[in-house]
Amino acid sequence: MAAIVSVVSSTPNAAAASSLSKEKMKLGSCNFNSLLWQGKRPSFATPKSLSKVTMSVATNVSRFESITMAPPDPILGVSEAFKADTHEMKLNLGVGAYRTEDLQPYVLNVVKKAENLMLESGENKEYLPIEGLVAFNKATAELLFGADNSVIQQQRVATVQGLSGTGSLRLAAALIERYFPGAKVLISSPTWGNHKNIFNDAKVPWSEYRYYDPKTVGLDFDGMISDIKAAPEGSFVLLHGCAHNPTGIDPTPEQWVKIADVIEEKNHIPFFDVAYQGFASGSLDEDASSVRLFASRGMELLVAQSYSKNLGLYAERIGAINVVCSSADAATRVKSQLKRLARPMYSNPPVHGARIVANVVGNPVLFNEWKEEMKMMAGRIKSVRQKLYDSICAKDKTGKDWSYILKQIGMFSFTGLNKAQSDNMTNKWHVYMTKDGRISLAGLSSAKCEYLADAIIDSFYNVS
Ligand SMILES: Cc1ncc(COP(=O)(O)O)c(C=O)c1O
Repeated sequence: MAAIVSVVSSTPNAAAASSLSKEKMKLGSCNFNSLLWQGKRPSFATPKSLSKVTMSVATNVSRFESITMAPPDPILGVSEAFKADTHEMKLNLGVGAYRTEDLQPYVLNVVKKAENLMLESGENKEYLPIEGLVAFNKATAELLFGADNSVIQQQRVATVQGLSGTGSLRLAAALIERYFPGAKVLISSPTWGNHKNIFNDAKVPWSEYRYYDPKTVGLDFDGMISDIKAAPEGSFVLLHGCAHNPTGIDPTPEQWVKIADVIEEKNHIPFFDVAYQGFASGSLDEDASSVRLFASRGMELLVAQSYSKNLGLYAERIGAINVVCSSADAATRVKSQLKRLARPMYSNPPVHGARIVANVVGNPVLFNEWKEEMKMMAGRIKSVRQKLYDSICAKDKTGKDWSYILKQIGMFSFTGLNKAQSDNMTNKWHVYMTKDGRISLAGLSSAKCEYLADAIIDSFYNVS
């Protein structure tokens, strides 16, 4: 905060005081601190008429006074609270980031190898084009749809590199705001916390469709279908391609067909968020099957992709927005407008993550190694999921059915714990998680499964 100087005189003089207060105002714009650093006296602050001058530092009134403190982010704020806790059994199950069995961050071996290749080839750091790295855009669209998919063959996909999943969603939201003014985006209830922020900031209206049924801790399929049917024709329907966040509950293949039917019937536009391709089931193709089903029906659709989880490139901010259009010509025009939207927002995307993805996907040896590492990561999560379920069942003698934990897929488990119970998990058990009852199993080790089971049982039965 800027400091200002107030000057106090032992022989008060109204004129001098008034001139001083003018000087005081001036001081705000001159660099007083730098004068002091240089050992110089600020000459204007010592008028001859004043016999004794003292200086004191006062706090300026900020032009930003009306800005209130923002609340901590409900997901990223959890990590900050976790860091401050010193308990030895503490667990960070808030953020969706993969950890090893020792609960350490993991850099994939294929990423290290790709980075070595990049170093050896001596790539430069020139700007990328607005649309991103051409080799990345090709690789990412092919990974999503399959290289032989007709949408690729017919060049009907407008792909633009984005700032990971979030930035790609934001770019799509800007496209909707500009070219579909007033159109609503339907989002699942609940959904990943940032979806609402993204559409709010892009000034795109949204409403929720039913998704989670607390009674079954499963999918409210009928509610979902009827809400999608009831939405105004031509709405965008945001769907999690796989591993729904936060519930871990995905529609079955048969249910996906019915969802596609009703979206088609209502002339809605599907908008997929694919943040976990390959990470949910361990198979890149299986996790893309929902998107491919919609594409195979000739529907126009949007897909945001992220490489944060499946390649562990969280901080590289690498992802893409893909818009499947009914013609190559429309795709070319859409792409030109996506670039136009991106240019004033961030100009062009970062290159490092894009090169990693392009190197991994474009090199058959690395590509196969990646698939194995992804299976390993998905496998570790599945194994702690099983161990947590087994521990809870062994400890809970009430006969309650906890099988929903096993039915959920991906990084997360929606425990069904309410806010007070989730608070108990943190305050009493040092288990950090979001207040909607979601835990990230990627942050759990098998050594701590029993401890977590105790915490869940205590919170479930002893806190209302
Ligand atoms: C459903 C969903 N979409 C998008 C993202 C975006 O993540 P990022 O911006 O790190 O790629 C996430 C991350 O947790 C997510 O869970």
